[in-house]
Amino acid sequence: MPVQWPAHLGPMAALDVELGCADAQFSFALARAQPQRFVVGLDIRERIIALGQRRAAREGLPNLTLAYCNLGVDLDRVFAPRSVDRFHLLFPDPWFKAKHHKRRVLEPAVLSVIAAQLRPGGELHVATDVFELGLAALEEVEADESFENLAGAWKFTRDNPYGASSRREQTTIARGQRVWRMIWRRR
Ligand SMILES: C[S@@+](CC[C@H](N)C(=O)[O-])C[C@H]1O[C@@H](n2cnc3c(N)ncnc32)[C@H](O)[C@@H]1O
Repeated sequence: MPVQWPAHLGPMAALDVELGCADAQFSFALARAQPQRFVVGLDIRERIIALGQRRAAREGLPNLTLAYCNLGVDLDRVFAPRSVDRFHLLFPDPWFKAKHHKRRVLEPAVLSVIAAQLRPGGELHVATDVFELGLAALEEVEADESFENLAGAWKFTRDNPYGASSRREQTTIARGQRVWRMIWRRR
């Protein structure tokens, strides 16, 4: 289950993880733009992961790995504590369609795994096109004292500072709709 660290990157390389990556448009763009970073995309759909792995090999991106992961179940076994520099949770389904938590974006158990796996100073980046889901994410993360909102408490961040965007972000912007983005730093 733990992902294989690419041998050509030193052990000190920065690690970006995209949660629920689907076709991993964001991860591909980030890995291409920043070959010195290790980028990992995780999704529960094995077929879309297999397609992405083939595309990464075809495009010669040795710093990109795509892997199957059911986040609510497996994430705590994928990365070591304090090893991740940035988690990106982009346009998630409201906590992945869990029946009884319709508007949850991050379950408390998953948020605590994220907090444990981020390095101090590392970032949690969440974006959505659904305002209510943005509010739900604010409600969940602002209540956790291990995170500090980079825009100020309870604030959205307008611009995308990562130089990469997911397919859903591109579609949202092409439609003239608003992206509700939040970035927290791990204290
Ligand atoms: C709406 S899509 C967003 C895809 C992409 N992040 C984007 O912005 O274009 C949400 C993704 O989360 C994945 N997902 C849903 N439940 C999941 C789970 N429990 N663990 C991992 N991924 C999950 C889905 O398979 C889907 O690819």
